[in-house]
Amino acid sequence: MKDNSISKIQHSTLLYWYDGYIKRAERNRLNNHKSGLIWFTGLSASGKSTVAHLVEKKLWQQGIRTYVLDGDNVRHGLNIDLGFGREDRKENLRRIVEVCKLMVDAGLVVLTAFISPYKEDRSYVKSKLKDDYIEIYVKCSVEECERRDPKGLYKKARDGIIKNYTGISAPYEDPGAPDLVLETEKLDIGTTVEVVLDFLKGKDFLIDEFYR
Ligand code: ADX
Repeated sequence: MKDNSISKIQHSTLLYWYDGYIKRAERNRLNNHKSGLIWFTGLSASGKSTVAHLVEKKLWQQGIRTYVLDGDNVRHGLNIDLGFGREDRKENLRRIVEVCKLMVDAGLVVLTAFISPYKEDRSYVKSKLKDDYIEIYVKCSVEECERRDPKGLYKKARDGIIKNYTGISAPYEDPGAPDLVLETEKLDIGTTVEVVLDFLKGKDFLIDEFYR
């Protein structure tokens, strides 16, 4: 295959950053809220997507511009060429981070639901988004996720039909210091969503005194 990529050195001489007239601060001011990334991590079937979408709905009702990026959906398009080996999961998140950066710059509050099982990869996301990043660990035991198994994938993984399945034949590294932990085995969904909303409010993550 012909390699059309350009080297890092060429990057510095061939590509230039174009600064637009409208900056993120102006977009935030127009929206009346800050933008940022709320990153949900956890096993498949732990409840990431359910919580992210319900939190989004509540924020939207408060007039906050949001968007949810979800593992299964992103793998239908942008990342359709990637699998679940170590390097592909890394590339999956690398591309997602770039999308998130653009969306945050565009003034949106982005909520993501990716398993993101490796500490190294989550640290990478944080290093790119810095203070615009909040990590929420959606904690649920493998046993419970396997019992829920809404897509029947745990069963396929146990039967050896799917390889490298997180929690069964591939690792999930628990977040060491997430900003928030949601124990979806212990809390009902309504309470879980309230915990997230209270947390965001308490941290002034979206609306601080500047926007009040
Ligand atoms: S990640 O590990 O790269 O962050 P991502 O969140 O994008 O994963 O995709 C996870 C979704 O892909 C799961 O919810 C599940 O539906 C599907 N899936 C298919 N194969 C696997 C696998 N081997 N491991 C985990 N999830 C898988």
